[in-house]
Amino acid sequence: MHKDEADFLHSSVLLREVLTVIKVPECRFVVDATLGLGGHTEAILACSPTVVVLGIDQDRAALSLAVERLAEYGDRFEAVHGNFSAVKQIIENAELGSPDAIIADLGVSSLQFDDATRGFSFRFDAPLDMRMDPNSGGATAADLLRETPESELADIIYQFGEERASRRIARWIRERNERGEPISTTRELAELVERAVKRGKKDKIHPATRTFQALRIAVNGELEILEKFLIDSVECLKSQGVLAVISFHSLEDRIIKRTFQKLAGKCECPPRIPQCICGAAKKVEILTRKPLLPGEDELRENPRSRSAKSRACKKL
Ligand SMILES: C[S@@+](CC[C@H](N)C(=O)[O-])C[C@H]1O[C@@H](n2cnc3c(N)ncnc32)[C@H](O)[C@@H]1O
Ligand SMILES: [Zn+2]
Repeated sequence: MHKDEADFLHSSVLLREVLTVIKVPECRFVVDATLGLGGHTEAILACSPTVVVLGIDQDRAALSLAVERLAEYGDRFEAVHGNFSAVKQIIENAELGSPDAIIADLGVSSLQFDDATRGFSFRFDAPLDMRMDPNSGGATAADLLRETPESELADIIYQFGEERASRRIARWIRERNERGEPISTTRELAELVERAVKRGKKDKIHPATRTFQALRIAVNGELEILEKFLIDSVECLKSQGVLAVISFHSLEDRIIKRTFQKLAGKCECPPRIPQCICGAAKKVEILTRKPLLPGEDELRENPRSRSAKSRACKKL
């Protein structure tokens, strides 16, 4: 293996854990709902000489890189441009039957985050875009800052970024809009946030990190589509098929944990109701009572794995 190949594989988070939990050697057909640079997919294809992988990504730039990289696997790999919110339709259209496993590695890829032009990171000055699918026609982060009412924007920054200075940041953004000087670049936003946030001594991250995360989640509707994706995925799986999901912050992990519990039959009716009306039904067995976390080696080698957690369930 070349060194760059090794780096590439290493940068795929919780790789070994995911391969183990989905039992690749027993899989005929796997769906990678977040293909990205194809790291997880490549490992799956390399693990079994017969497995077929369908990779989905909403980012055409990622998709074409992955296609190039995985060319050697011929027709054992197929790529689809799309949002995993449509996972059911995409799997149906592929006409490959019911998958033995579906994996998802949520959030942005290093390709997106390290691209100086797409506005995901304050490390580069760029138009404030942040759409994972730049052709979606949806609102950019700059649009969001211009068009969202102050209190709603503060809620977004607080809820999705856990930023305590959210109200001040939202007020200052509104004031700029009123002065006819809306924020349009990453640098402008990072500077505004830096002034608005009182940096604590223990703060290890850049003060704009939380606000950037919040905007990215809002722009891409990341949390809204997650529950439906999980439920639809389980529906698509074949019996005994496994769904494994890697998340990077507590907001995602909470949704995954709760949805898995619901799919495992946990009743969500209010207490003391005479009869269950929430439709709780046991559809899966949870395979990870506690989420899988990266080991010490991975933590050392890949800082991006720091906040990663994976949960998996098996369809009954
Ligand atoms: C963390 S990366 C995946 C990295 C990949 N597992 C690897 O090993 O190379 C996440 C990818 O998922 C894509 N993505 C995120 N949300 C998506 C969604 N709702 N639908 C389709 N693709 C999505 C992003 O565009 C990004 O390329
Ligand atoms: Zn109930």
